[in-house]
Parts: sequence; C-alpha cells; structure tokens
Amino acid sequence: MLSVRSVKKKYGKIDALRGVDLEIAPGSIVALLGPNGAGKTTLSNVICGLLRPDEGDVLLDGASVVRHPGQVRRHIGYAPQELAVYPTRTVLQHLDHFGRLTGLRGGRLRAEIDAVVVALRLDGLIDRKVSQLSGGEKRRAHAAVAFIGRPRVLILDEPTAGADVQTRRAILDAVVAAAQAGVAVCYCTHYLPEVEQLGAEVAVITHGSIVYRGPLAKLGDEDHPTVVVQFSGEPPQLPASKVHIDPSPPGELRFRTAEPVGVIQLLFERLSGSTTTHLVSLEVKRSTLEDRFMALVGDGEEPGEVVLDGTTAMREA
Ligand SMILES: Nc1ncnc2c1ncn2[C@@H]1O[C@H](COP(=O)(O)OP(=O)(O)OP(=O)(O)O)[C@@H](O)[C@H]1O
Ligand SMILES: [Mg+2]
Repeated sequence: MLSVRSVKKKYGKIDALRGVDLEIAPGSIVALLGPNGAGKTTLSNVICGLLRPDEGDVLLDGASVVRHPGQVRRHIGYAPQELAVYPTRTVLQHLDHFGRLTGLRGGRLRAEIDAVVVALRLDGLIDRKVSQLSGGEKRRAHAAVAFIGRPRVLILDEPTAGADVQTRRAILDAVVAAAQAGVAVCYCTHYLPEVEQLGAEVAVITHGSIVYRGPLAKLGDEDHPTVVVQFSGEPPQLPASKVHIDPSPPGELRFRTAEPVGVIQLLFERLSGSTTTHLVSLEVKRSTLEDRFMALVGDGEEPGEVVLDGTTAMREA
C-alpha cells in the first residue's frame, strides 16, 4: 500500500501542497486530476522521493520514502512530466541503464527489457537513438523507463501528452496490465476519457488540496439538473419576490434545481392560465462530467443563483 500522509510543500510563499492524504492500494489506478498548477507534479516528485516535503510522509508498505529514499525509490517507477531521455543513447541503452538501477542483471534484465518493449510497442525502435525518434515514439520510450524492473508503484505524470491515438492506447494498455499484475498506479492527467478507459478512481487536486476521491461517475453527481424552458409571448409570471427574471435571452428560462418536477409544475400553472404565453419546448438537462469537474475545481466564475420556492435556480444569460 502506498500512503501519502499529511504532505505539505511550499516553494517560497507558494503553497504547492497543503496537507495531502492519498492511499493507493496494490492493483489499483488512481487518476490524479487537477488544473494547471494544482500540485500534481509536486506530489509526484514527493512520492518518488525526489522532493522532500516540508511536513508529512510517504510510506510504501510502511517504509518511509522521505526518510529512506534510497531504499524505497527503486520500487517506484516514475515517468516525469518533462521528457527525461538522453538524446544520444538508444532506446535499448535507456532500458538497460534503468533496469540496472533497479538491480536487474543478465537474463532477468533481458527478459524484463523484452517485456517492456512489447508492452510499450517499441519493437523496431530499440536500436535507434532517442534523438532520432518521433515525438510519440520518444513518449513511449520515456514511459517505458518507468515500467522496467517490476516496480510496485508507478507514477506517471501526463504520460500521453502530445501522443497520438496508437501511442496513447499503448501507454494506457501497459498501465492497465501493470495494475492487473498488482502495481499501485498514480496517473496524472487532464483527459477525462483516459480515466474512463483506465477504469481508474479519481483524486481531484486543486490549490494543493485533494477535494474529491472516489469513482469518476460519482464526481459532483449531487449537482442538480437544469430545466430549460422555451416559450413564446410574455415571460411566464413567476413570483417576482423569488425569481429574478432577466429579459435576455428572450423566450428562454433556465433553472438549476434538485426538484425539476416541482419547478415544472409551477411553470405549468403559470403557463396554463395565460392566453399570451405558450410553451415551445421543455428539457431537463444533466450536467456533463466535464461541467461537474469544472464546478468542483472552479473556473473562476460564480453562476448567478436565485431561489425559487426553496430550490436553487440559476438564470443563464
Ligand atoms: N520549482 C518550483 N519553484 C517554485 N514554484 C514552483 C516550482 N514548481 C512548481 N511550482 C509552483 O507550485 C504549484 C504547483 O505546481 P505543480 O507543477 O505541482 O502543478 P501541476 O498540477 O503539476 O500543474 P500542470 O498541470 O501545469 O503540470 C504552482 O503554483 C507552481 O507555479
Ligand atoms: Mg505537472
């Protein structure tokens, strides 16, 4: 079990991590999601023992990465966000070098290299210098280094950035296979579809704090549906004390509510008694996963909220 315990890290005055707790069990994949600057790379560096936290600890099966980085680090495979490859070395030289760092030699090293070459679809590229690889091929070679030596933990920081569909597929398949073999994976990404393909749990980090940990499908699912009503004629007469009717756009009202049925009933009452206003369309929309993610991490804008009979309603311009 990988356990991140109350980790804090400041860079000067910047609070990069504000007391992060995170557990990743063997065989499970946690997708670390969060906007730019949220603290994903800082946390990855702390987990790998490359960056010392100001407070807290990282334990791998009880052994402290912070106090004994030399002993624990070799069980952690890391593909940093920035490509870390030596341009003049071949792919094979990279795998050989990093395999040796994990203690592998001889036949076991060769078998391990073969397995990683197949997993990351590097066949045909192993004798090429990294400087002569395409961007996507470099990405696969860079990621391959993390997989060598059967690590117990894999930390992959945006491993598919700039990757095409095939490279992305190769990396995702390799991650899933590693997890099936019992590796605990922390996978930093900005792509929600990747999280679904990985079948990963998510941890959402923003401003250095984990604000959600759980299944992707449940992220923000307490978010209310939106009722969109289009009408012709005069705006429906809703209680002015409770609803602020914005004249724009004409002919449409949007309400976000936990009780769409109650809101619709109220609207129908108003509309049915009117000879000048007619219902054109009515729709109850569920927010997308991306909407819910944005609501969780904040996009810097607060929607204008109004109250309608005790339910929260939102007018959209
Ligand atoms: N070496 C550094 N010195 C000073 N501040 C840093 C350093 N590295 C990161 N930061 C700051 O720490 C915060 C967290 O950065 P971090 O790189 O961990 O974010 P991230 O979630 O990985 O972002 P991205 O999605 O852009 O990769 C940011 O405010 C960043 O500006
Ligand atoms: Mg980063």
